[in-house]
Amino acid sequence: MTTTFAISNQKGGVAKTTSCFTIAACLAEMGKHTLVVDLDPQAHLTIAAGYDPDQIEQSVADLLLLEKQTCDWSQFLLPTAQQNLYLLAADLRLAQVERQIGERQGYEVLLQDALEPLKNSLPLPNSRDNFLSFGFDYILFDCPPSMGTITILALTAANWALVPLQAEYFASRGLYRLLDVIEAVQEHTNPALDYAIFVTMYDGRNRISQKVFEEVHQHFEEKILTTPIRVDTRLRECSIAGEPVTLYAPHTRASQEYRILTNELIEYIQSQEQIK
Ligand SMILES: Nc1ncnc2c1ncn2[C@@H]1O[C@H](COP(=O)(O)OP(=O)(O)O)[C@@H](O)[C@H]1O
Ligand SMILES: [Mg+2]
Repeated sequence: MTTTFAISNQKGGVAKTTSCFTIAACLAEMGKHTLVVDLDPQAHLTIAAGYDPDQIEQSVADLLLLEKQTCDWSQFLLPTAQQNLYLLAADLRLAQVERQIGERQGYEVLLQDALEPLKNSLPLPNSRDNFLSFGFDYILFDCPPSMGTITILALTAANWALVPLQAEYFASRGLYRLLDVIEAVQEHTNPALDYAIFVTMYDGRNRISQKVFEEVHQHFEEKILTTPIRVDTRLRECSIAGEPVTLYAPHTRASQEYRILTNELIEYIQSQEQIK
C-alpha cells in the first residue's frame, strides 16, 4: 500500500520543500521506495534534487495535461542522489497548467488519477527500473505557498496533510486557514484526509520559539509530532549541492532530527490507522 503526504502550509519559507525532500530521503534510507512530487512552479524541490527546471523534458505539468493516463513513466521519474528516491519534477509551465485545469469540472482528482498506476504492484509499461513493478511505498507532494488549485489537487490525492509550522509568533494563525481548507477537502473530495503538524526552525534559546512550541502543543495535542527540527545552517548549503542533507551531512543535527521525526511519523500513522 502507498501512503501519500501533502507537505502544505500557505506560508512561504516554513521549510516545506526542505522537509519534503529530507523526510523522503529518510524513508528511502530505510529502503522504502519513495517519490517526491514537486508541485511548486518555482521548482525549488527540483533544484534541491540537482535538476535544472529549464532542462526538464517531462514535468508534472505534462502529466496533469495527459488525456489518457497511460504514460511512459521512465520519462517522468528522475533518479536522485539518494538510492530509492525518485523525483517527479516541476517547471514554470506548472503555473500555466494550474490556470488551465482550475476551470475544468472535477479537476480536483486529476493528480490522484494520474498517480494511481504508481501505487499498484502491476508491472508498468516501458519501465527501465525493476522497482517500478512494485509501486511506491511513499509519495510526498511539495505544495506551493498558496491554497490554490494545486494545493487542492495535492490534498485530494493525499492520505495525510503534513504541516510544517515555524516556531514563530503568529505562525499558528495561518494554520487555522489551512485547517479550514483541509476540512473543505474532507467534505468534498477526500473524506479520509487527515493531518499532522510538526515544528521547524526551532530555536530552543529563543523564548518566543519555546512559547510557541508549548502553545501549539497544548492547542493541537495529539495532532502534533513531538520532534522539533531546530535551526541548522547545513540545510541551506545542501540545496546548492543538489542532495538531501542526510547525504550531504549525514551526521549533522538536522539529519539526525529528521530521521527521528520520520520514525515518529511512521509510528504515528500506524497508531492512527489502528484507531480508525
Ligand atoms: N531547520 C532549518 N534551519 C535552517 N534553515 C532552514 C531550516 N529549514 C529550512 N531552512 C532554510 O529556509 C529556507 C526556506 O525553506 P524552504 O524549505 O524552501 O521553505 P518553503 O518550501 O516552505 O518555502 C531555505 O533556505 C532552507 O534551506
Ligand atoms: Mg517550497
